[in-house]
Amino acid sequence: MRTNIALPVNDCLAEDIVWKEKVAPLLRDVPLNIYDVCEYGVTEMINNVIDHSECDKISVQVTIDDDYIEFKIKDYGIGVFNKVQKKLGLEYPHEAIFEIVKGKCTTDPTRHTGEGIFFTSHMFDQFFILSGGIRFVAGTIFEEKSYTFENRDRIGGTVVVMRISKESKVEKKDVFDKFTASNDDDFGFSKTCFPINLAAQEGGKVISRSQAKRILVRADKFSEVILDFKGIEEIGQGFADEVFRVFKLTHPNTRIIPMNTTEDIDKMIKRALTANV
Ligand SMILES: Nc1ncnc2c1ncn2[C@@H]1O[C@H](COP(=O)(O)OP(=O)(O)OP(=O)(O)O)[C@@H](O)[C@H]1O
Ligand SMILES: [Mg+2]
Repeated sequence: MRTNIALPVNDCLAEDIVWKEKVAPLLRDVPLNIYDVCEYGVTEMINNVIDHSECDKISVQVTIDDDYIEFKIKDYGIGVFNKVQKKLGLEYPHEAIFEIVKGKCTTDPTRHTGEGIFFTSHMFDQFFILSGGIRFVAGTIFEEKSYTFENRDRIGGTVVVMRISKESKVEKKDVFDKFTASNDDDFGFSKTCFPINLAAQEGGKVISRSQAKRILVRADKFSEVILDFKGIEEIGQGFADEVFRVFKLTHPNTRIIPMNTTEDIDKMIKRALTANV
């Protein structure tokens, strides 16, 4: 079953009303845990269109199959990667993906916290964003997050696709808990994971001090940051020193935890930690 909902984006459009009046009635028979995840994802993505897309129309497509539920939310605005690139002063639009994946990435910090895309992409089995000729792929069934450049003609705006199995056992609360550091008494969003391969040079290298500084942008907003070295073959001495000694000294409230390191990377980290300066 497929339902298409097209709406103007104006002062009257509110994500909770769209959910309650147009989408929720289609999901009467789904288990509560899935319903909760759908409500979170759909309202967050519609809110993004209202608050960030700078466009005047939105379409929401709901597909309910025997096995899964899928939402496709499309706007005709400025484009998510383009917007984040411009506002954060990044060199290329695809660099916005690493920033969004870190979490707490927002272009409007007075009114937003940068959680919507992060948590939605950790709840749904499949989560895609297509914008400005770039396809970002995430979701729980994929071992790692990735992006590709699309050959198709670039379409304006942003398309978000979210798909969840009707058998999913995911609980929204567990996903929030997973990103709360063990020492966080406020139960907030205080822990995250930076998959370094999204920011690495070709050949899986992270070499320089400047690269380390770019990778660690906004790490200080968390009390625990897992640095995932999956796919990284080589780290440079400058990179290791900046991440594991300099950052540690200058940011005592953020713990950096390396993961998926090779033996060579471990040696470099050890060298940085024991450096005598
Ligand atoms: N449809 C969109 N069009 C243009 N830019 C977008 C769109 N969706 C998201 N963005 C950009 O991506 C950023 C991250 O979005 P995300 O939903 O993760 O956080 P947020 O909306 O800023 O904060 P929160 O979701 O916690 O309210 C936004 O700040 C905005 O710059
Ligand atoms: Mg948002």
